[in-house]
Order: sequence, then C-alpha cells, then structure tokens
Amino acid sequence: MVHNSCVILGTGSYAPARVVTNDELAKTIDTSPEWIFTRSGIRERHITAPNEATSDMAVEAAKAALHDAKLAAADIDLLILATLTPDLLLPAAACQVQHKLGIPTHAACFDLNAACSGFIYALDTASAMIQSGRYKHALVIGAEKLSAIVDWKDRTTCVLFGDGAGAVVLGRSTKAGVGVIGAKLGAYGDSTDLLYIPKGGSRHPATAASIAAGDHFMKMKGKEVFKLAVRAMDEAARDILEQHHLRADQITLVIPHQANLRIIEAVAQYLEIPMDRFYVNLDRYGNTSSASVPIALDEARKAGRIKHGDITLLVAFGAGLTYGSALIRW
Ligand code: COA
Repeated sequence: MVHNSCVILGTGSYAPARVVTNDELAKTIDTSPEWIFTRSGIRERHITAPNEATSDMAVEAAKAALHDAKLAAADIDLLILATLTPDLLLPAAACQVQHKLGIPTHAACFDLNAACSGFIYALDTASAMIQSGRYKHALVIGAEKLSAIVDWKDRTTCVLFGDGAGAVVLGRSTKAGVGVIGAKLGAYGDSTDLLYIPKGGSRHPATAASIAAGDHFMKMKGKEVFKLAVRAMDEAARDILEQHHLRADQITLVIPHQANLRIIEAVAQYLEIPMDRFYVNLDRYGNTSSASVPIALDEARKAGRIKHGDITLLVAFGAGLTYGSALIRW
C-alpha cells in the first residue's frame, strides 16, 4: 500500500527590522513597561515600515522556507496564506505572494482567515490536500500586519500585538506515520463579540463617522478571551493526544500560540507538561496572530529543539473564537 504522509520539508520566518520596546510604548500611552511584561510576558514587538504590507513579509518567510526545503517557487502547486490582515480586502494576498515569488499559474492560491488559529487551520487544510495525492508541494504561510488594525491609543490592546510572518513547505512521503499526523480544529461561534472589528465589513461598511470613531480597529474583551483561550487550548491539546493514543509526556515540544505567557503557563499546568517543553518567544514578538506558531516553529527547529523522531504539538486559539491543534512526527 502506498502511503501519502504530509511532511514538513522546510521552515522560514521573517520579522520587520523595527523593534518597539515596552519603554517606547510607555512614552505614548498611559502604561508602564512593568505592567505590560507582568500581565502578558511581552517585552518588545516588531513593527513594519510604512511601505511594508502582509504580502511583503509573507514573501520573505516563504523564500526562507523554500531555501530550507531546497525547493524552487516553480515546485509549488498549492499556496495557503493564513491572515486576518491581507494587503487588500480583494483580491487574496496569496495571489500577490504567488506573483512576487514566481509560483506557477497552475498553483491553487488562497487566503484563509481563522484569526490566530489560522496557521493550524491552513496546515490541516494543506496537509489533507497533499494527502489526497492531488497536490505535491504546498507553501503554508502565516503573516500579519496587526499594527495596521490596532488602535494605538487603546492601551488595553495595542501593547499586545506585533507584526511578522512564518512559513512551512510541505511535501509527500510514502513513509507511514510521519509528518502532520493529525489535527483537531473547532470554533465557539457564540463568542464572536469577544474579539472583533465592528465596522468596515459588509454588515457595516466604513463611513467617515465609523472611521472617526475608531470602529475599524480591533476591540477585545481581554479577560473573557483569556478564560476561553485556556479552556480551548487545553481541550484541543487533550483531544488530539487522546485521538492518537499519546500521553503528554511523549510530546517533546509544544508550540503554542504566543498571546500571553500567563495563558501558556495555565495550559502547561492543566496538561501537566513542564514549561521547559513549551517554546516561548512572545517576549520578543508579542502576539503576531497566525504568524506566531510558524515563527516559533522555525526558531525552535533552527535552535535544535526538534530532533528526528520527536513529536511536536501545535496548539492555538483566536478570534471567532477558533481553536486548533496539530501533531507533527519528525
Ligand atoms: N497598562 C496599564 N494598565 C492597563 C493596561 C495597560 N496597557 N491595559 C489595561 N490596564 C488596566 C485596566 O484598565 C484595568 O484597570 P481597572 O482595574 O482600573 O479597570 C487593569 O489594568 C486590569 O485590567 P485587566 O483587564 O483586569 O487585566 P488582565 O490581568 O486581565 O490583563 C490582558 C489584561 C489583556 C493582558 C489579559 O486579559 C489577556 O491577555 N487576555 C487575553 C487577550 C488575548 O490573548 N488576545 C488575543 C487572542 S488571539
């Protein structure tokens, strides 16, 4: 029997050059570097240059992942860009990335929005498409310019987010039980109002008044998101482990969505997995939404934290509220 496993052939990431520290933020809004660090674990974040958009960052991360995979743009026949901040509302930023990279016109290219769970949603989607045998090499990217949709006057949100991109190249393997061995996706659609942008969509198209009121910026009920995030990540992780008859101590590394260190610590406690088996880089990036998991994955691989035969657990939650987990055997 021929197996079609979907394996990760390469990873890459990109962060804009400009670093904004908590000290710098405390000069423009009513906050303190200590408050931000103790409540979130964030020390600094990368912010794009004015002429830099999501597709530009996605292209850089994708180039690094292709180089790592020793493949060319011409080899890609599927591109999924997970983002909630596409360059334009129309068309999909994936098509801009395709063009800039020189990916052939026979490749399927689309954006996917599952907010901060977007990368895991895209990974599961691409993995199923690869396993179907109809696609050979996929580029899955998470890229976000959150600095464009946060209200820099709202101290309850602006201190938490950053910009960046991460990417993986996927391919087929005839070996069974390797690569993306499973995923669990879900959503609490009754909680759309916990994290959303009120105006500028088809329900309430932008008007001069809505823009003056700042209703095109992200609004968040932080405390409620926090509680649901811990529950969703714990459940998503437990479900996938159970489905695959794995114990928590068989997971060599957890790559969680990087939103808040206290959320990650609570999840670690519930799952009874020590914090030294969680990869954490949110102190340097803040929350980069769908870019956070692939950036962390790329860093962890390059830091030697992932070895042949290891099982890595990815787990995330995001606006929607969406959640997702995935298991990768290397
Ligand atoms: N600087 C200083 N004080 C701030 C502040 C800031 N940047 N932001 C909020 N505060 C104040 C609040 O106004 C509040 O003041 P009050 O008690 O006088 O009303 C106080 O700090 C405590 O706020 P609270 O919301 O209770 O803090 P918290 O411990 O819940 O932490 C978050 C706030 C946002 C850090 C936390 O709730 C969180 O991380 N939630 C999840 C958010 C998330 O992950 N979103 C992304 C989803 S993908």
